[in-house]
Order: sequence, then C-alpha cells, then structure tokens
Amino acid sequence: MINFDFHKYISKYVKKEDKEVYLEKAKEIKERFIHGDLAYWNELNSFISKKELIKLINITDYIRENCEVFLVIGIGGSYMGSKAIIEALSCPYDKKSPEIIFLGTNLSSEEYYETFKYLRDKEVIVNVISKSGNTLETSIAFSLVMDIMKKKYEKDVLKNRIIVTTDPLDGNLRELANKEDYVTFSIPKNIGGRFSLLTPVGLLPMSVAGINVAKLLEGAKDSFDKIDRAIEYAIIRDVLYNKNKIVEAFVVYNNKLSYFTEWLKQLFAETQGKDGKGILPISCVNTRDLHSLGQFLQEGNKIVFETVIGIEKDFKISLDQYDIELNSLNRIALDKVALAHDNGNTPSNIITIDEKNEHSMGELIHFFILSSIVGALLIDVNPFNQPGVEEYKRLIKSELK
Ligand code: PA5
Repeated sequence: MINFDFHKYISKYVKKEDKEVYLEKAKEIKERFIHGDLAYWNELNSFISKKELIKLINITDYIRENCEVFLVIGIGGSYMGSKAIIEALSCPYDKKSPEIIFLGTNLSSEEYYETFKYLRDKEVIVNVISKSGNTLETSIAFSLVMDIMKKKYEKDVLKNRIIVTTDPLDGNLRELANKEDYVTFSIPKNIGGRFSLLTPVGLLPMSVAGINVAKLLEGAKDSFDKIDRAIEYAIIRDVLYNKNKIVEAFVVYNNKLSYFTEWLKQLFAETQGKDGKGILPISCVNTRDLHSLGQFLQEGNKIVFETVIGIEKDFKISLDQYDIELNSLNRIALDKVALAHDNGNTPSNIITIDEKNEHSMGELIHFFILSSIVGALLIDVNPFNQPGVEEYKRLIKSELK
C-alpha cells in the first residue's frame, strides 16, 4: 500500500489557495482519465493482454531452463524500468540462473569487449527490445550480438534463442522477426517507451529474473483509483515550480531503489522537459548523499524540492547500544532529514510503501506514470513525445555511412 504525505513538509510552501487555481484544469484532466481519451491508462489490458501474459509466463520457463545468460538489448524505456525493479527486488549476492545482462545502453567498446568475452562459453538467449526498431544504440548492439550468436549456434537453434519485443506491426525489428520466425512480444501502439514497464518490455526480463509479474500487475491495478493523488502531486510540483523550485530530487533510503530513481528521472525528464519547460529531476540515495548533495539541499541555492520514497517495514536488525531497530533508525533519518531540509527551506513530499515487494512496486510504478502524464498536461506539453532525443541521433548518424 502507498501512503502519501503531501502536507507535513509541503503546506508551508503550497497553500490551499495555490492549489485552487488548478481546480478546473484538474477536473478536466481527471475526466479524461476516467471516461475520456486517457482511460486506457487505467486498464491492465492496455499494457498486456491476458493471452500475451500467459505466453510470457510460459516462455519464462523455457528461458530459465535453456540459458545461463539472458541478454537484454535496449536503451531508455526499453531497459531502465526492468533493471530498476530487478535491482529493487533481488539480493545482489544471490547468484541467479540465468544471469540477466543488459547491453546497448552506451557505445563504450570496453563494455562490449568485456561482455562478449564473458559470453564466450555461456549459453545465451537474447531479448532485443525496441519500440521503433531503429534506435541507434540498440541496432548496433543487436548486430554485434548477432555476429556472435551466429558463430555460436546453428541456424535452427539460433531461431529459438532470439526473442524480439517491438511494435505490433511496424518497424525493422518486426519485419526481421517475421522473416526469421523469431518469438515476438508486442509493445502496444499507444504505450511509449518510458511508460512500457508494465508491458512485455519490462515484464519478460523481470519474469526471467524471478519477479512475480502477476503480483506486480495486481499492484499496478490497485493504483488505478489513485488518480486524485496523482493529480494532487502534479499540482504541488507545479506550484513549487512556479515558486522557482525548478529541480526535483527523488530521494530513497535504500541502495536497491537507486535504479528506480534513474527510471523516475527518465520518466519525468522525457515526459515534461520540452518547449523550454519542466522540472529537472535529480536523485539522492540516502544517507550516502546527505554527505554530498545534502549540503546543497540544506544550505545551497533554494531551487530544489524533494520527493522522498520510504519503506516502512524492512529486515529486523537490532542496534543494541541504542535500543532500536536499524530500520526504525532509517525511518527516523527520513523524517529528520525532511525536517532539517524544511528548516533550510527545501520542502519534501513523502511517499511511503508498507513493504518493498512486487505489489507495492507495481503501485508505485503506475502512480508515477500517471503523475508524469498529468504533470505534462498541467504545463501544456505533450507527454507522449520526446523530440529532443532525436537531435543527437541525427548528428551522430550524419557521421555514419
Ligand atoms: O520513452 C521513450 O520513448 C524513449 O526513452 C525510448 O524508450 C528509447 O529512446 C528507446 O526507444 P526504442 O524502444 O524505440 O528503441
């Protein structure tokens, strides 16, 4: 369950009358999500059909039995969310089989060289993920990996070791998959990359990693009625933004949520950062970053507000000398840091989950997806495009034959 505290460390900065300005617009937006053109965001079927989910769960067993490495190729929304949830819900010291390796997130030859060396004597199944089917980094990674796979496996074996997740009808990858008869999963037409964590983009790698994706989807479903909360959070962000709080720090108190903040940064930056508008998302993993960014948040330029994600229940470790559980101390730290930063005029939204598990992570994912879209609508930018991402690609491509 998610609990929201948008009051304790916020009401000094965001007054009732500040929020009232948004009443009309908020009503319109809510109506679009409940009965209008955006209602599909509150239907599980929009992310994955029942049939596709069964296929995904069945193929998970095949993958787990037939490879040592599940190689996921993709960038941006095509990898970030699944990596975030796998890290959030797995123990880093459990040597799981298959191992999940992500490739295609940069152009560093060192990473490719070392990964290919590591894969030399491993059984590999590849999942290439791209909605457009023509993203530069993904295309390069996939073609390099295919050279290796073709040397490793005969054609008829290879066919069963490539899984393509892409647009249901269009694009180079769909065309290739049809031609080679690869197993495919579809990314629904109206769900863009950064919103696709609850589609086969995120669900297949998570499922292979042992995450119970049915529970994650149930959690997401339980967030469907949280549209009021998503709107309230989006309004608070916008009021703060208009009071020159132009940077939002996503703050966590557990290292395993560090990649989740990367996903949040992508979600909010690409959804809202356009037309010269938007809040710059940054992240803090505390208490580590209290010894770096913490100084700025306490005493630096007052352009930052925080959105803190806390976990109520965690493992029991007693700190006998203080007669307290370590997790209670972590929770106290969250509260006292918010208080300290409030004293320094840096406000905090506090969002807590009872426990970190599939259900609560599903709820958080869907809540933030909705909020990012609502926030974009409030500032009149198109939530669903990312034209700014094209410019660097165009310049790189101009150097290629
Ligand atoms: O949110 C988005 O649309 C982007 O971050 C994409 O996910 C990213 O650019 C990768 O695109 P594609 O899945 O088409 O390869």
